[in-house]
Amino acid sequence: MDQDQNAPLREDVRLLGEELGSVLRGQAGEALFDTVETIRQVAVESRGQGEMPVGKLRELLDPLDDETLLEVARAFSQFLNLANIAELRHRERLRRQHERFPGDPDTDRGLRQVLEELKKSNVAPEQVRQVLADLSVELVLTAHPTEVTRRTLIRKYDQMADLLTGLDRPDCTPEEAERLRRLLREQMLSAWCTDEIRRERPTPVDEAKWGFATIEQSLWQAIPQGMREIEDELALAGIEPLPADWVPIRFASWMGGDRDGNPNVTAKVTRRVLNLARWMAADLYLRDVENLLADLSMHRASEELLAHTGPSHEPYRLLLRAVRDRLRNTRELMEARVNGAAEPKGEVYTSSDELYEPLSLIDRSLREVGLAAIAGGQLKDTLRRLNGFGITLLKLDIRQESTRHATAIDAVTRFLDLGSYAEWGEKVKQKFLLEELESRRPLINGAFYQSEFCTDEVREVLDTCKVIAEQGSEGLGAYVISMARTSSDVLAVMLLQKIAGVREPMRVVPLFETLDDLNNAFDTMHALLEIPFYRERVKAGQEVMIGYSDSAKDAGFLGAAWAQFRAQEALTRIFKEHGIPLTLFHGRGGSISRGGSPTRMALMSQPPGSVAGRIRVTEQGEMIRFKYGRPSVAAYNLEQYIAATLEATLLPPAEPRPEWRAEMDRLTQASVGAYREVVRDDPALVSYLRTVTPETELSRLALGSRPARRKPGGGVETLRAIPWVFAWTQMRLMLPAWLGTGAALETGLENAPDTLRTMSEQWPFFQTVVDMLEMVLAKSDTRVALWYEERLTDDPELQRLGVELRSRLDRTVAALSELTGRESLLDNNPVMRWSIRVRDPYTDPLHLLQAELMARLRTREEDPVLESALMVTIAGIAAGMRNTG
Ligand code: PGA
Repeated sequence: MDQDQNAPLREDVRLLGEELGSVLRGQAGEALFDTVETIRQVAVESRGQGEMPVGKLRELLDPLDDETLLEVARAFSQFLNLANIAELRHRERLRRQHERFPGDPDTDRGLRQVLEELKKSNVAPEQVRQVLADLSVELVLTAHPTEVTRRTLIRKYDQMADLLTGLDRPDCTPEEAERLRRLLREQMLSAWCTDEIRRERPTPVDEAKWGFATIEQSLWQAIPQGMREIEDELALAGIEPLPADWVPIRFASWMGGDRDGNPNVTAKVTRRVLNLARWMAADLYLRDVENLLADLSMHRASEELLAHTGPSHEPYRLLLRAVRDRLRNTRELMEARVNGAAEPKGEVYTSSDELYEPLSLIDRSLREVGLAAIAGGQLKDTLRRLNGFGITLLKLDIRQESTRHATAIDAVTRFLDLGSYAEWGEKVKQKFLLEELESRRPLINGAFYQSEFCTDEVREVLDTCKVIAEQGSEGLGAYVISMARTSSDVLAVMLLQKIAGVREPMRVVPLFETLDDLNNAFDTMHALLEIPFYRERVKAGQEVMIGYSDSAKDAGFLGAAWAQFRAQEALTRIFKEHGIPLTLFHGRGGSISRGGSPTRMALMSQPPGSVAGRIRVTEQGEMIRFKYGRPSVAAYNLEQYIAATLEATLLPPAEPRPEWRAEMDRLTQASVGAYREVVRDDPALVSYLRTVTPETELSRLALGSRPARRKPGGGVETLRAIPWVFAWTQMRLMLPAWLGTGAALETGLENAPDTLRTMSEQWPFFQTVVDMLEMVLAKSDTRVALWYEERLTDDPELQRLGVELRSRLDRTVAALSELTGRESLLDNNPVMRWSIRVRDPYTDPLHLLQAELMARLRTREEDPVLESALMVTIAGIAAGMRNTG
């Protein structure tokens, strides 16, 4: 990597390390500082010589008492968080200079490059403009429990990043620099004195509030800021301006709406969250309108506006005062609803249009009387916000598992003496559902709710639909069915909404997330589209969700990736045939094993034609912080989405060649076989997972409101994808990301090496698979994994499996490097390699400590100090890996 360009990053890492050192000295004493420093030196030196510091570190760690172990773990964990701050800051710095980390896929090509590319490819500017005008990118913030860092600390880290920004300013004087460093020390001290572990599980309402905070603190600024930058880029490229309030990005949320496997998300919670969101929106618009009130003191106004206000010296203010009052009423009403208090009277906003109307009237008037420059200021930002966030702030999705709906319908058919729905065949189910959907008479009456058939679980499903019925459609997004398998799963949710009296039904979105369900996605949707009633209902558009992590957990990374690709391709085709616009909703996690990849790579590796200007994607946990936590970074990431969606729509990748597809079929067959041979068929796997990885310990971490398993007990199948990946990440075997893929590559290289190489050079889908695999393998470390095994088990069966897994991992690395022709991993991505290397001396001691603490804790009854230390190592390693799992 370019030495000079990254000098400021190294300088920041050094500065933060130095400050942390002085905090340690002051707070924990010289002795602890010396211990930490010695451990660090040993780790640095050993890694430098290509060795693992295990023996030497043990000698240093063994004599330490429990309290000291905790402090040592905290010190290393803190440093890793600081390294992240420096890296984040460096990315911001480079972006400002329109530079990128060389070879870093995280800094994808921006809008400017895409527009140039389009020009070179002779795409007419009008066509670009048209696609942009229709573009729809919806980012869905989920409550997925993957953010380990407490919000309290995130705030402090953000402040540290701001202080680094200040220190970076060219006009920063030595006195100012001294003051900023002092403030930095203060923040670090306060971070050091703060418990890094969340002690109590957040409630779903807490989770929703975090989502709102991201909007308040970052996205509220980022949308107008990002849109201004985009507008400039478009002007530069000679594209005719789009409407002044054009915003192709929307936000949706699962926080407080996703009840799949989370009994804490109830109908009551959802109602509360919806009201809170509207409260927050009213409050934010109120701040905007107060500012406009202060600014818009001019008297020149259009006749149209004066017709509304009557003669006035300050007509804009007059109008805005009414808007302000109505916003205040709205806020008060929502507050009363949240608190269950009596509802105040007074006119409120019930739709975005109602608020849009007076603001756009002001906008038109200002432009008409020659004050367009003023209209283009704050007012334009507010109008854009209104377009992006509406008066509901976000669109809340509902998600529930397919079997819960089937159980509810089953209760209804049994109550009506029609037999048991659950036992009917698919055709009979569909016929019943359709008849009832088309019928005018209500299916059940109040007696059902009083009957024994209406169990708590059934009531909860129906109560949720009642919340949908009572809320207007503006604040609601998609009703997602997890583990969707059949056409009746979709019709069932339509009927449940009808039963609850929903007048504006939520769109029903099946989530296909196992290998079989992805493979059957075409048939499932085809069957639905054959039904005239259904076709009529979705004629304006259909959304289908693709589940990345569960399919990878089910079939391995490669098998899942190909199934996702094929499902999307088939769905794109069938909806095109029917002339119904299709939006694919990508349920991807942050980490590679859960489908995470840089924005452009993710979009360009989709089947050609599947993006078509519309995309919906989940954003989760720590990725929300990394990508949207700070306004400038968020603005950048929004631009990335727009650029990549535009590119994937207008310059889609070529169709894969038939021989590539055939090869992919062979590869996946090998991959799924090898993956399942271990995950499903090896009798030692579950025990290995529980013994050698911190899977059991992880469930004690108060990460999110939902349980780690769908059902208590059971094997890998009941475990959710997040803890599954998380556990293997912590001990660096990273199994979910590569198991099976190595075997597939070996087969491919043996049978069709040239085809495989061409695929990796010319096919974006396969390129992405290879690049992602390489990135994840670079984070794996068989030697670290071995420490865990050595410390945590002496069972020969587990050791047998451990040897096999490590050897499979080594072979995967070898196969990959044979394919890429690169001697060592990430030779093409020096930034990432650097960033892993810098962290190794800090993560090594944490791994060693973690294995030690797990071993000690498993033999003790209860030990709060060791327990805390263990949780700190988990958080620290997650920070070091830059994701949980
Ligand atoms: P899910 O998501 O378990 O909520 O389906 C999994 C993931 O994002 O990894």
